[in-house]
Amino acid sequence: MPEANTPPPGSAAAEPGDRPGGLPLCPSADLAERGLAFTFDVLHYREPARAFALRFDGQVVGYLNRCAHVPAELDWQPGEFLDSSKEYILCSIHGAAYEPRSGRCAGGPCGRSGLTVIDVAERDGQVYWYPSADTQPAFAD
Ligand code: FES
Repeated sequence: MPEANTPPPGSAAAEPGDRPGGLPLCPSADLAERGLAFTFDVLHYREPARAFALRFDGQVVGYLNRCAHVPAELDWQPGEFLDSSKEYILCSIHGAAYEPRSGRCAGGPCGRSGLTVIDVAERDGQVYWYPSADTQPAFAD
């Protein structure tokens, strides 16, 4: 059964002010529209991994930094996840393209898989993330 506060893919960002708690990630102003992502360390199934938060069409979305094709990090340069047209999250290894708002595969070798959503929200000028049973803060262990 999904957790009650787990948003469906494509709606990772909640309405401001409607969700208390969360772990602070960065000031909202640090995430420019379709700009550099904020990357951070997590434990995914108790293994070290990276995640990122990105602003796209005004909303902050969050994903595990792990391609669905091969479990490699996606970014071209640290924090650079979007293609040159800034329309898709593009894997730097073999070019899988993902829809930024949902994380769904839009083309390339990701097939029917998508990115793993990291639950994020923005309120009062601050971006937060919400750990899940699968994805915990890197300092949890
Ligand atoms: S590792 Fe991302 S497309 Fe192959």
